[in-house]
Amino acid sequence: MTSAAPPTEEEAALALLRWYADMGVDEATAPASSDFYAFKKTAPPAPVPGPPRAAATPAFAAEQDRPSTDEAAAEAGRIAAGCATFEDLEAAVAAFEGCPLKTGAKNTVFADGVPGADLLVIGEAPGRDEDRIGKPFVGRAGQLLDRMLAAIGRSRTENTLISNVIYWRPPGNRTPTQAETAVCRPFVDRLIELTAPKAVMIAGGAPLQALLGVTGIMRARGVWREIETAGGARVPALPIFHPAFLLRQPANKRLAWADLQALQGRLDQD
Ligand code: URA
Repeated sequence: MTSAAPPTEEEAALALLRWYADMGVDEATAPASSDFYAFKKTAPPAPVPGPPRAAATPAFAAEQDRPSTDEAAAEAGRIAAGCATFEDLEAAVAAFEGCPLKTGAKNTVFADGVPGADLLVIGEAPGRDEDRIGKPFVGRAGQLLDRMLAAIGRSRTENTLISNVIYWRPPGNRTPTQAETAVCRPFVDRLIELTAPKAVMIAGGAPLQALLGVTGIMRARGVWREIETAGGARVPALPIFHPAFLLRQPANKRLAWADLQALQGRLDQD
C-alpha cells in the first residue's frame, strides 16, 4: 500500500487557516497586546555583524516615529481644548493620529445620539459592528443598551448621547490598554464638558477604570460618583453593568434595572 504524499507547505498552511476559521478564529491578532508607544522608549537593537540588513519597513518606521503616551495625550489635550462645539470635537477626533489603534480600524467611532443631551452614556470601545458602521453600540450589546434606555424613557434619537472611552476598535475586541485610554481621555473630557449632562452612565468596568480609576464593577455599580474633567467640570456618574455582560449573565439584569431606576430618578430631578 502506498502512503499519500505529505502536504506541501502551502497546503498545510491552508489547512491550518481553514481549521482556525472553523474554530471561529477569523482575525489575526497578536497573542499579547503591544504597547506601541514603547517603541520610542526602547533603545534600538545593537547592530548585528554581517551583511547589511534591509531597511525598516515603512510600518515599523512609523511606529518608531510615534509620540510617547504622554506626548500623544498632551497633543490630544491641546486639540480637545480648542474644540468649541460637538462638531469640532467629532472632526478633531477623526483627524487625530496619536492613537495607534486607528491604524487597524476601519472607522473612527465617536458618538451617536443627541449632542447636548442631559444623559451621556460612556462605554468601552467599538467592537466589530461598530467599527464597520462607524457608530457606537450598534451590535447585540448596543441593541440591549437601547432597550435598557427605552425602559427609562430614553433613546439616542431623542434625549441621549452615546460614546466610548476609546474611538477605534482594539484588535480582537481586547480591553483597551491604559496608554490607549490615556491618549483618548482629553477628548472624552471635552465631550463631557461640551455635553454638560445631568448625569453620565458609565457602562462597564473598563470605562469605570478609565474615567474614575476604580476597579471592580460588581461593587461599584449603582453607587453615584463624580467625574472631574481636565477643564474642571464635575458631573455625577453612575456605573452600571455593561450590556454585553448582561447578555452573558442575564440574572444580573435585576441589579441593572435598579441602577437604571436610580439614573432615571436623578434625571427627573428639577
Ligand atoms: N461595547 C462598547 O463598550 N461600546 C460599543 O460601542 C460597543 C460595544
